[in-house]
Amino acid sequence: MASPNEFKPIVVGFLCNWCCYGGADLAGVSRFQYPSHLRVIRQMCSGRVDLEFILRSFIKGADGVFVGGCHLGDCHYNPEGNYDALGNSMIAKRMLAHIGINPDRLRLEWVSAGEGNRFAEVQNQIATVMKQLGPLGSSEGKSSEEMRAALQAAIDLVPYIKLVERERFRLPVRTEENYHKQYEGNPEFDALFKHMVLDKLSMGQIVGYARSQSVAVDQIAGGLGMPLPEVNRHLDVLAQRGVVKIEGDQVQVVAV
Ligand code: FES
Repeated sequence: MASPNEFKPIVVGFLCNWCCYGGADLAGVSRFQYPSHLRVIRQMCSGRVDLEFILRSFIKGADGVFVGGCHLGDCHYNPEGNYDALGNSMIAKRMLAHIGINPDRLRLEWVSAGEGNRFAEVQNQIATVMKQLGPLGSSEGKSSEEMRAALQAAIDLVPYIKLVERERFRLPVRTEENYHKQYEGNPEFDALFKHMVLDKLSMGQIVGYARSQSVAVDQIAGGLGMPLPEVNRHLDVLAQRGVVKIEGDQVQVVAV
């Protein structure tokens, strides 16, 4: 692993064609200075940045992910495209936190084509955060294999989450304020999110961990950094569904 001084972060940047990409271009022609961590992937709209793109970037070795779109209300295709990006980033941050990845590794910002200085400023801020966090896994205290397994469990859940987001999480009136109200400090929504997403993610992690060989319950808890009562609760559900077989303290995955 690189020492903090040698660490050169890689940040995958998904930039919307019409605003943030223009902002990046303007930053370049204006010669605004910012570090070289960004690997740009141009998207026609920030709403096109699928949850899986974010998670897969981390699996592929990114230390951070940046999503840049038009300011809210300025989306060029659908007035609500960037609200999709906002919802996705809030869901992704919760999932990252749940699997032990610092959610500050993901940053969403609105940057117009005329805001080259703001683009450079945001990249400088990201560089500072990356320096504090270090390579993916270092501040999390996890190996790359552990990161990969946790991220894969999250990716496996994405098709299901898209349905849940549309059917249960989508706000009838989409404003930035309403998103913050829903995703930050709303105990009722927190309970729903835990039940519908995080518990399933934990079960996916458990199945992934125990898939290749029979393992002890304690080992699962220790390996995943998950409290033992929580592991037992999920194992009960998985056993009822016929996904795992439990004999003594040994767990074996019998169906996926
Ligand atoms: S076109 Fe820029 S966010 Fe939709």
